[in-house]
Amino acid sequence: MKIFLDTANIEHIRHGVRMGVVAGVTTNPTILSREGKVDYQKLVKEICSMVPGPVSTEVLSQDGEGMVAEARDMAKWAENIVIKIPATLEGLEATSVLSGENIKVNFTLCFTLNQAVLGAAAGAAFISPFVGRLDDIGEDGMEVVADIVEYLDSSESRTQVIAASIRHPQHCLMAARIGAHIATVPYEVLLAMMKHPLTDSGIERFRDDWRRVMAREGLL
Ligand code: G3P
Repeated sequence: MKIFLDTANIEHIRHGVRMGVVAGVTTNPTILSREGKVDYQKLVKEICSMVPGPVSTEVLSQDGEGMVAEARDMAKWAENIVIKIPATLEGLEATSVLSGENIKVNFTLCFTLNQAVLGAAAGAAFISPFVGRLDDIGEDGMEVVADIVEYLDSSESRTQVIAASIRHPQHCLMAARIGAHIATVPYEVLLAMMKHPLTDSGIERFRDDWRRVMAREGLL
């Protein structure tokens, strides 16, 4: 499973790329607005130059024509840009037009297998089911991801699933188990994925044992 960072924070992206684990980035208007009063186009271009893979940015228009116009413009920002288009009827039409022009689409705000089936049929490169938001309303978000992965893999589709709206390391674990192609994770969740108390106490214990023996042998 590939790991994308779900953030527009340059420092967090820089750290993730330095660790060698970040294969892409996803943003949305909420995520970009968290970075404050900045030139969003400049910020997205900078992210694109830092990341060795797809960087998703989202259209704000809700009508098909508007989405296509915005997407065509954004597509010129960088080679690795991917346009997030919402899973609506208008979005479906826009996805089909953009895919026909070789502009990569991330079909976002996807909550059902049916939406994913149509998004893939329209040519989306990625489908983003929102796990946490489904869990929030008492549904099983990861079950929807599993259904979509199974459907796309069995139909030998080239569309990839991005498990999105990931809230904690357990979501990542489940996404990996069910074979999600990608999980897009907040920076804090990425850090938490590596954390285990036994790793920390193990390091401590090795260091103490080493020091004790070295001190006994008079080597310290
Ligand atoms: O990847 C989509 C994500 O940014 C939405 O997450 O936590 O707002 O549901 P959340």
